[in-house]
Amino acid sequence: MRAGENTLASVERLAKRFLRGGHWKHPLRAWRLWRAERIGREATYRECWDYLAATKDTAYLMIDGSETEEGFRATGRQVAEALKEGLFISKGHRVLEIGCGAARIGRELAPHCGFWHGVDVSPKMIDLARTRTEHLSNVSLATVEGPSLGMFPDNYFDRIYSWAVFFHLDKEDVFMYIQEIYRALKPGGLAYYDTWNLLDELGWKRWLLELERYRDFGKKPLHRNQWSTPQEMRRYSEKAGLTVLHVLEGFLIQVISTKLPPDIPVADSSRLLAELREHVMRAADHLLPPLGIVGSVAEGDK
Ligand SMILES: C[S@@+](CC[C@H](N)C(=O)[O-])C[C@H]1O[C@@H](n2cnc3c(N)ncnc32)[C@H](O)[C@@H]1O
Repeated sequence: MRAGENTLASVERLAKRFLRGGHWKHPLRAWRLWRAERIGREATYRECWDYLAATKDTAYLMIDGSETEEGFRATGRQVAEALKEGLFISKGHRVLEIGCGAARIGRELAPHCGFWHGVDVSPKMIDLARTRTEHLSNVSLATVEGPSLGMFPDNYFDRIYSWAVFFHLDKEDVFMYIQEIYRALKPGGLAYYDTWNLLDELGWKRWLLELERYRDFGKKPLHRNQWSTPQEMRRYSEKAGLTVLHVLEGFLIQVISTKLPPDIPVADSSRLLAELREHVMRAADHLLPPLGIVGSVAEGDK
C-alpha cells in the first residue's frame, strides 16, 4: 500500500493495473512476476545513489573517478567549458542540469550563466552540491522523485543538459526525462544529453565487460550502466517533440536538440532550424570527450 492510501484504493489501483497490463490473460505468469519483484526487490534509484554518495570520496569516485578535490574540480572545469562553448551558454541564460551530482559541473558553469539549477535523485548528492556551491548566489538545487521536472513551469529554461546520467537509467525513464526537457525548455532553447553507444566498437567492448561482471550477479543493481543506439536516441527525442540538431556518435551518443516555436510559419521555422543547426554543428566538437577518458571508460576503469 502506498503512503496515505487506504486498503480499498490500493486494491482498486492494483486491480486496474492488473487489467490494463493484460495480466489477466496469464494469471500464473503475473503471479510469478509479482513474487519475483518482491522477493528480490531492487533498491530505488534514490537508495542506490544515496548509498554510492555516502561519503564525498565515494561520490567523487562514482561521478568521474576523481580521488582528490583538485582532480574533481579540473574535470568539472573541462566539462563546464565544453558545455559553455558547445551550447553557447551566456550570462543571460537560465540553465538546468538533470542529475547534477555534487555540482562538479555546476560549480564551474554557474559563474558563466544567469542562473544555474541542479536537480538530482539523491539527497546526499544534493547535500554535497549545496556545500560545494554555497559561495555562489545564482545556484538553486533540488531533489527529484522520478523522471519529472514538475517543480519548473513550461518554457522556463534557455538550456537544459544531462551529462553522464542517462546511461544509468532505464529507457522509459530516459524517454520521460526527454519529454520533460521538451516541456520545460523555451522555444528556440537548446538541450544536450548523452548515453553510451552499443554501435561503437569501444562501447561494445565495455558492454561485453559488464556482461561478464554481472554474469553471476543475479540481479543487477539499478544504477548499472545501460546502452543505446543513435537511432533510438533520435526516436525518443523526436517523439518527445524535440527537433534534433546534431548527434555526435562515438563511445558516447551526444544529442543536441531544440524546441521549435509552435505556430510559426513553415518558412520561418525552416530558417530558424537551418541557423541553429549550422551554429551547433560548428561548435559541437567542443563537446567531444577526450580520447584518453573514453579509453579508460572502455577498459572499465571508470
Ligand atoms: C555519474 S553521476 C554524474 C553527475 C554529474 N552529471 C556530473 O557529470 O558531474 C550520475 C548522477 O545521476 C544521478 N541520478 C541517477 N539516477 C537519477 C534519476 N533517475 N534522476 C536524476 N538523477 C539521477 C545520480 O544521483 C548521480 O548524481
